Amino acid sequence: MNTPVEGFSKLTKTQKIDWIATNCTTDPKATKQLLEQYWNTDPRVQKLHDEFIENTVSNYYLPFAVAPNFKINNELYAVPMAIEESSVVAAASKAAKFWLERGGFKAEIIGTEKVGQIHFIYKGDKQKLSDFFTSAKPELLQSVATITQRMEKRGGGIKNLELRDLTDKIEGYHQLHCTFETLDAMGANFINSCLEQFAKTLKELALDFDGFTEEEKNIEVVMSILSNYVPDCLVKAEVSCPISELGIADMPAEEFAEKFVQAVNIAKAEPYRAVTHNKGIMNGIDAVVLATGNDFRAVEAGVHAYAAKDGQYSSLTHAKIEDGIFTFWIEVPLALGTVGGLTTLHPMVKLALEILQHPSAKELMQIVAVAGLAQNFAAVRSLVTTGIQKGHMKMHLLNMLNQLGATEAEKQELVTYFKDQTVTNASVKEAYERIKSN
Ligand code: MEV
Repeated sequence: MNTPVEGFSKLTKTQKIDWIATNCTTDPKATKQLLEQYWNTDPRVQKLHDEFIENTVSNYYLPFAVAPNFKINNELYAVPMAIEESSVVAAASKAAKFWLERGGFKAEIIGTEKVGQIHFIYKGDKQKLSDFFTSAKPELLQSVATITQRMEKRGGGIKNLELRDLTDKIEGYHQLHCTFETLDAMGANFINSCLEQFAKTLKELALDFDGFTEEEKNIEVVMSILSNYVPDCLVKAEVSCPISELGIADMPAEEFAEKFVQAVNIAKAEPYRAVTHNKGIMNGIDAVVLATGNDFRAVEAGVHAYAAKDGQYSSLTHAKIEDGIFTFWIEVPLALGTVGGLTTLHPMVKLALEILQHPSAKELMQIVAVAGLAQNFAAVRSLVTTGIQKGHMKMHLLNMLNQLGATEAEKQELVTYFKDQTVTNASVKEAYERIKSN
């Protein structure tokens, strides 16, 4: 049973580890050893990681892999992915290769607009609020000039600032709804700094506005924060080829294409399937987002909101057959950055961006959308042909053997054996026990 602790963050790292080892685990010695074993051997690198967050006691590894052969808008990319799920990188690589031989992926940016809001309560005369906003707008914009100056020099900044009336939802609820262009930065800090300054200026100017009564002058700002819903920070990625080129083992191309489109239509029509379908897309998206040091929680939240934008949760991908041509595409909102944040700090993130040839945020949006589309193609292809377990369990085999404690020689023997056998938990256990007893 855990006990409360005072001032944990003030303890040294060793003290924190001692506290965890003695208070939270049954084998303090093993815990200490494990936590230390995952430290970086270079103390400077470890310090960098320690300082990313509070109370760091060790590092948490995820595999960092590369899926090669992605042809996107006629450029070739090896795409870095950080993910634990065994079959994801193999599936991405297979889909990349498949489409490499059929012209590759096409991707385009539809928009790059980010959003931030100041949520406030004003219960007075609405016309007066509107007049106040019109007169205050230039000063509001002026008040953030020092924050926006550098971004503006590079061509970004604030695109629009408007007053929104949401009193039909909550009594007195209004917003300043602001849109931003943050170029190669994800822009969260930039946006939030602008919003907090807007909120401050809004309150100050309201106090001085002669048109308001004393009560109306007291605008109550509830909060100021960016929105992770970015339906206008949107990218589209697509593949297409004549049906006759969709050669998939054991299934005529036409039947495959039709089943594929049907599977996508099912995900468009039915939320239970849509969620799993989109989860497969996020296998690809999150892995690249994470490897490139972007905020995968923000991306997840925004993507799923977008998937429900028409009132029902639905597929992010679409497929059609027209005049003998199979087309498969994704439209997805992605607020990503390739400068700032972890991108200049985390050595593996820097490497990931280098492997991608130092993409702009727009290029990264395209690469990430393609990773999602490729992953979805691989999953749906398996689902409508062999079923998912065959490939998935094959890739999971090493995990199972590691769990059983197999030696390298045993692993090799069993991987060879399972090349033409069905992998299940039971069959692996049985085969392992058989070679053990020999
Ligand atoms: C597993 O991580 C992802 C899939 O379930 C996606 C899908 O069903 O489309 C295979």
